[in-house]
Order: sequence, then C-alpha cells, then structure tokens
Amino acid sequence: MLVLSCARPVYPTLSLSPSRPKCTAIRSSLSNVHPFVPEVAKAADSLSSEFRGVDNLVACNSSRVLKAFQNARVGSHHFAGCTGYGLDEAGGREALDQAFAEIVGAESAIVRSQFFSGTHAITCALFAFLRPGDELLAVAGAPYDTLEEVIGKRDSHGLGSLKDFGVMYRELPLAEDGGLDWDVLTSALRPYTKCALIQRSCGYSWRRSLSVEEIGRAIKIIKMQNPNCLVMVDNCYGEFVESIEPPMVGTFLVAEVMASKGYKVQPLPRVPRSDTVQAVQLGSRELLLAFCEAVQRSSPVGSFTKPVAGTTPGYASEVIFADGTFIDGSTSELSCDGPLREPYAVFCQGGTHWTQWGLVLGDVLKSL
Ligand SMILES: Cc1ncc(COP(=O)(O)O)c(C=O)c1O
Repeated sequence: MLVLSCARPVYPTLSLSPSRPKCTAIRSSLSNVHPFVPEVAKAADSLSSEFRGVDNLVACNSSRVLKAFQNARVGSHHFAGCTGYGLDEAGGREALDQAFAEIVGAESAIVRSQFFSGTHAITCALFAFLRPGDELLAVAGAPYDTLEEVIGKRDSHGLGSLKDFGVMYRELPLAEDGGLDWDVLTSALRPYTKCALIQRSCGYSWRRSLSVEEIGRAIKIIKMQNPNCLVMVDNCYGEFVESIEPPMVGTFLVAEVMASKGYKVQPLPRVPRSDTVQAVQLGSRELLLAFCEAVQRSSPVGSFTKPVAGTTPGYASEVIFADGTFIDGSTSELSCDGPLREPYAVFCQGGTHWTQWGLVLGDVLKSL
C-alpha cells in the first residue's frame, strides 16, 4: 500500500520534492487509523493466529485452482464468445467444466450460467436421478426450505414436484448432537431408495454443518447397503472450506463479536468449520430486521435501499435478505438473510476479505 502511495505521479508536477514527505505523512497517519469499532478491533486482534492458519489454507487452495486451470490449458481464446450451438467452439465450456471437475475432485462437472440458482441446479439433478416409484432419502434432516416444494413436502400447487411424479420421500432426523444419526443410517435404505441426499450446510436450520469426513463416512454406509444408490451432496457454502476461503475469516469475526455481546452463535467462535455460514440467534423480529438493514447499508451496491421482509417464491416463511449483489448472482458477496420465525436467526456469509465484515459489524452493533 505504501509503495503504491510512493509511486511517481504519471504527470510530473511542478515540484517533485513533496513525494517523500507525502509518504512519511501517509505512513504516520496509517498508524493512527482505526477502521473498526473497539469491540471488533479487540476480536480481530485475538483472532490473529486463526487468520494466519486461514492464509495458509488459502495458499493451498489457490495452488489447487491454478493447477486445474493449467491442466485444462486455459488460454485467452477460451474467453471469447460464440454463437449458435457452440459445438466444438473454442472449448471455453469444456475447459471450464474440466477445471471445475479437477478443483472439486470429480470425474466431470457441468458449469452453466443457465442454472440460475442453487435450487435450480439441485432440482435438475434430482429430476435426472429419480423416476416414479423411486424414493429420495434425506439423511441429514430437513433439506433447505426451497426444496420443500421441489420434493413435494410442501404443496407445489400442481407445478410438478417430485411427489406429483410419483417419487417418494423420507427424511432421517439428525442425532441429538446435531450430526448424522449413524445408527439409524446403517439400516435406513429400502429396496426402492434410489437417491440419498446429504446437505452439508445448515440452511435455515439451527444445526452445525457436516465435515467432509462425516460425508465420506455416510456415503460408505449408504453404498454398503446398496452400491447402486446414488448419493447427492448439496455442498452449498462448503466449497473450498476445509481448505478455507478468505470470506470465511470474516464470519469468524461475526461469531467472536456477536458471542461477546451475549448472542447465541452457530458455529461457536474458534471451532473448526465446514461451511462459510455464521448463524446468530437474535431472538426477535425487530433485531433481525435491524441487523439486515445495517448490512444492506454497508453494502457497496444498493446501500441506499432498505431490505423489507416479505414472501419470496420457494419459501414458506417470510424472509429478509441483505445482499449487495448476492441475489444478482454474486454468490460470495457479503450478505445475510433469515426467515422471520423463531429463533429469529440471521445467517451471514461471504465478503471479499474479513475486514469487510469488520467494518459492517461496526454498523450492526450501533443498530442493535
Ligand atoms: C444448503 C443450501 N442449499 C440450497 C440453497 C439454495 O440456493 P439458492 O438460494 O441459490 O437457490 C441454499 C441457499 O442458501 C442453501 O443454504
């Protein structure tokens, strides 16, 4: 940052002498800059070793992504548009699919902007896997709210849920510790169970997320009962997490600061994480609205708008979203949202860097 400040002006000024004193002035003024409110600054200081650990994991992930791009031989020609069917075009789609598959350790991947939401992608996969008479088994409790209509748990008013097409559905509740119920899972499959659904992240449930190790163990148990049973993992918010992403560090800070103010948080501060979501129980409709309004005010885009709770397609409860550009498609944007129901929890995620949450928390604390 200082080096940039010292750069020679592009257009020479009449006197070059001020450049040095200017640097010194910037350096000394930087040491007096306090961008965070005291509570956030204290929490950030106490988390410095966690931040270092995360930086190391970020480096591991960056290296993985770089290698995948290199192995897919991504070149500038891949970024050109194409027209028509795009068959045998410059290979942009194939290269993107190949890079993603390698990054997530899959045999193949399909990455398309035409999947307009997570719910859409999950729905496409479920409708591809399941046929009339088959059973879908959710092994990690209730799936995300918007899947209720897709599955037919909630009336889809004849729009064509899996249930409408004769696909059965069963759900295994979570164990008391919030994890998978291993005993029940061991004998859960029936002959017509065609697909098991494992949701890694909490969604709008007050539960911890699942680790990759737990998911692997569940898959083994399922395949032991029927090797042909398809297993689908909803990995939403889990990407790169066990080799963490920078936005996640911001949610460390949310946990630390909100817990210090007496709010229940999930996950607890400083525990290992398996997704990028930080939930905070605010306990009332007013506080949930105030939290989301403060986050919206702190967003780079749409800061002048006020989020309003309302009914949203796919959700049974009223919901509120504070999002910057999350809803427009920037899904790792700093955002928070929550259903207007007990325990009035807000779910926070995303951000370009932990300091973004650090700044937002200042406004949040003032508003609660
Ligand atoms: C676990 C989980 N699955 C699925 C979804 C649905 O994603 P989308 O909102 O993009 O439809 C969400 C959304 O937050 C989620 O948290």
